[in-house]
Amino acid sequence: MPRTYSYSADFDAETEELFKEAIFLGEGHNGIVYELPNDKAIKIFQETKCCKEEGDTLKKVSKSKYFPRVYNMGKYYIVRDKVDGNRLDHYIKKKGFNYEIAEGLYNLIEEFKKLKFTKLDARCRDIYITNDNKVMVIDPKQCYKRKVNYPRHLMKGLEKAGVLESFLEDIRLIDKKVAKDWQKRYNQYLKNREIE
Ligand SMILES: Nc1ncnc2c1ncn2[C@@H]1O[C@H](COP(=O)(O)OP(=O)(O)O)[C@@H](O)[C@H]1O
Ligand SMILES: [Mg+2]
Repeated sequence: MPRTYSYSADFDAETEELFKEAIFLGEGHNGIVYELPNDKAIKIFQETKCCKEEGDTLKKVSKSKYFPRVYNMGKYYIVRDKVDGNRLDHYIKKKGFNYEIAEGLYNLIEEFKKLKFTKLDARCRDIYITNDNKVMVIDPKQCYKRKVNYPRHLMKGLEKAGVLESFLEDIRLIDKKVAKDWQKRYNQYLKNREIE
């Protein structure tokens, strides 16, 4: 029995039909995600507030290639593009790090600036590298709410994966000023943590 029956999703007729062929993809703190036919995914939320917030964000960024397109939305669910590929940290473990990925991540943060996000950051587990090596964000969490002015979680994840130095080396080649700024802020963050 799919776990979803404990989430009361209230599907419309079309989604109800598609959901008959749903395959479990993953679960996070806010919801559970299934693959639907035709390369779509459905995220079912526990709280309608979360669903609305994420839906509003995805609508705001709908022109951006870095986020899944939304097809349909209910009070407790959002139907969107399924993202194929690997989670960034899993990708690094499997294939290692390279300049193309660093550049993709740099461009992603530049895109966040263009979209006027207040949070210029994303966690490795919410970033995917697609099969043709493109960067995508599956879960745009609090990007218009929290204030973060450099990619701290991303750098933390990259450090944990053992590739922060290569990342910064690549960023230096792309944009010296940004590389210096991120490194300075990250070092300051590590220092403050030591004091605490
Ligand atoms: N568009 C998608 N394509 C493929 N898998 C996805 C997609 N969205 C989410 N998932 C899977 O579902 C999991 C939970 O989704 P996520 O949006 O991160 O939920 P939460 O908001 O609860 O953290 C992800 O870790 C991933 O495995
Ligand atoms: Mg998530």
